[in-house]
Amino acid sequence: MKIALIGCGNIGTIIAKAIEEKKVDAKLECVYDIIEERGKEFAKKFVSTYKKFDDILKEDLDLIIEAASQEAVRTLIPRALKAKKNVMIMSAGALVDEKLFHEIKELTDKNRLKVYIPSGAIAGLDGIKSANIIEIENVMLKTRKPPKSLEGAPFFEKYHVNLNDIKNPTIIYEGPAKEAVRLFPQNVNIAASLSLAGIGPEKTKVQIIADPNIKSNIHEIIAEGKFGVLKTRVENIPSPDNPKTSYLAALSAIATLKKITEPIQIGT
Ligand SMILES: NC(=O)c1ccc[n+]([C@@H]2O[C@H](COP(=O)([O-])OP(=O)(O)OC[C@H]3O[C@@H](n4cnc5c(N)ncnc54)[C@H](O)[C@@H]3O)[C@@H](O)[C@H]2O)c1
Repeated sequence: MKIALIGCGNIGTIIAKAIEEKKVDAKLECVYDIIEERGKEFAKKFVSTYKKFDDILKEDLDLIIEAASQEAVRTLIPRALKAKKNVMIMSAGALVDEKLFHEIKELTDKNRLKVYIPSGAIAGLDGIKSANIIEIENVMLKTRKPPKSLEGAPFFEKYHVNLNDIKNPTIIYEGPAKEAVRLFPQNVNIAASLSLAGIGPEKTKVQIIADPNIKSNIHEIIAEGKFGVLKTRVENIPSPDNPKTSYLAALSAIATLKKITEPIQIGT
């Protein structure tokens, strides 16, 4: 499988290493990063080629992986689909914007393409998708993070909370996934994937807890419906280079690549 990568950061590095170590049957043809210098260094390290995004679109590729930012999803993914490329989206938070989601959906239908959205740092999307065949009544994502990993979120421009003063677990935010993703764009992409697999970004509830007593990012899902009750909990180790990103999120991208390339598909 011939791949291009947008975003040469933490997730991009973990994906490139997996390809280099032949954990996936794929070749990293070319890379792009908004910071050209970073992209060029990355290309050298992983024996690939740095290209401008317009030139990436001219390549013969099986898949373009976005591991950059919600802004990259908004500006680059529709162009990739117009150029008839399949895509994988890590910054899934961008997809709670209905206009963008519909544009992407129309382009995939028209050009017979695939958009892959890995599960990220949560477990249970398989059960949510199955349950959604009949009816899910409610879905809640409880995300517990060390206060430091929430730093810099747009939420704090509006609400003045001093994260250094938090001495006990504190609910920082409670509301619909649609808003959570906007206020914490680098922290709760999973709220978007959970919404898209289930009952949508307005009905899916999110609670964000700043907890000074933990080192991992803990994500719990609780869903109820005609199928019964689903509860999952993952205690994620943060990635060494970016504490906002759970290691499992990057691994889920690699697992998705394996799912695309391997003939036997296990799991829903
Ligand atoms: N789906 C999930 O579960 C999940 C989990 C963790 C992170 N993420 C998201 O995945 C993305 C990558 O995460 P990361 O930890 O690798 O981040 P990172 O900051 O380590 O790396 C991102 C890289 O992308 C580049 N970049 C940013 N905007 C760009 C653009 N418009 N065009 C090209 N390059 C651009 C940056 O320069 C940087 O090199 C982030 O948006 C993050 O929020 C998703």
